[in-house]
Amino acid sequence: MDRLTTAGPALLGLALMFALLMIVALIMVVRGASGRKRGRKADGGDTMLLSMALQEAVGKLKAQERQMAARAEASERLAGQIVAGLNSGLVVVDRAGEVQTVNPAARRILGLDADVNGGPVADVLRQVPALAQVIGEALQTSAPIVRRTVMLEGGGKPSHLGVTVSPISGASDEMQAVVCLFTDLTAVVELEERLRLKEALARLGELTAGLAHEFRNGLATIHGYGRLLDPGSLPEPARTYVDGIRSETAALGEVVTNFLRFAKPEQFAMAPVDLHAIVMRAVDDLPGAAEATTISGTFATVNGDDVLLRQAFSNLLRNSLEACASGNGTAQVIVRGEVDGGDVLVTVDDNGPGLAPAAVSRLFQPFATTKAAGTGLGLAIVQKVIVSHNGVIVAGGSPAGGARFQVRLPIQRAS
Ligand SMILES: Nc1ncnc2c1ncn2[C@@H]1O[C@H](COP(=O)(O)OP(=O)(O)OP(=O)(O)O)[C@@H](O)[C@H]1O
Ligand SMILES: [Mg+2]
Repeated sequence: MDRLTTAGPALLGLALMFALLMIVALIMVVRGASGRKRGRKADGGDTMLLSMALQEAVGKLKAQERQMAARAEASERLAGQIVAGLNSGLVVVDRAGEVQTVNPAARRILGLDADVNGGPVADVLRQVPALAQVIGEALQTSAPIVRRTVMLEGGGKPSHLGVTVSPISGASDEMQAVVCLFTDLTAVVELEERLRLKEALARLGELTAGLAHEFRNGLATIHGYGRLLDPGSLPEPARTYVDGIRSETAALGEVVTNFLRFAKPEQFAMAPVDLHAIVMRAVDDLPGAAEATTISGTFATVNGDDVLLRQAFSNLLRNSLEACASGNGTAQVIVRGEVDGGDVLVTVDDNGPGLAPAAVSRLFQPFATTKAAGTGLGLAIVQKVIVSHNGVIVAGGSPAGGARFQVRLPIQRAS
């Protein structure tokens, strides 16, 4: 019993301690569980926030990407429109010599086929090797070529191009390609040529007219003294010498007079002139021309001097008839009018022997003649008259194997 009485409080204490421990453990378990629950809740919130932020960033990036793509597309479209709308020819060639871009103006100016787009520059520009050469030079030297005038061979149009070639470098400063821009300078060069010719003719007239005048006075004196000598009273061979002096001074006097007529500055009586009527009159006035000449096509009214223009066409017709007469067969001269933009083009074709190769380069020079009795001033006068009317004259071959002279004159604009 005593033992019981002494063990009772000890057991009670132990039970109390155990219960206390259990309560603490329970509290700890409960606290631990609720702590874990709270942590899970916080983790879930953070993930949600993170994913929302990510979604927002991705959305922004996508919008930016869309904007950039639209901007790139718009600038590409604009670049395409600029290249296509350029009046100048544009050819882009990479450093390997491959053509990357040819714009419509380049195709139009150079007469390239519509399907020409790429390939080696020498192939693409084989019709215009002079241009390919300039591009090749820029590719080789990596140096820009600024406003160079390139002459195209073949006598076609265009005859001259104004070319600028600019190298393009990448980030490494190494040349990546060259951009070649060019314009058709044919009209400008023709205008310059016309002005140059006009000035040269005016200068020639001023300079030589005075000199020729002095010559003519001297010749007249020699001729006069020669006439005072009576060949009949002179012994041989003096008589032959005097005859020689007389005929030579007379011939020289005629040359000087003709030259003076050519060189003297013309006084123009400008008025609207119907070119068809001019050609008809020139044919009518020339003996034998009406039977041999056919007039066809469309003519126009030009602002010009009626007398001088008639003289010009008369000289052309006379040359054609003389050339036909030197050949065998019936003379056939065809005069055809054609309106070409703001100009009228008059072509005179004949079926004579054609232009002698040696004469071609000097045709329009004064005193260039292949005829025994020719002065060689006919075509020089024609050119002077046409140039003074702001026109051009070119010579070549006719389809019938003879000569062709083509006169281009500006049509008078209705005021
Ligand atoms: N239709 C033609 N066919 C062939 N040759 C031509 C023709 N027209 C001109 N020529 C050549 O051009 C040269 C120069 O012609 P141009 O009219 O200036 O002088 P020309 O006819 O010789 O002399 P001129 O006119 O004083 O009688 C001629 O001598 C001739 O050789
Ligand atoms: Mg002549």
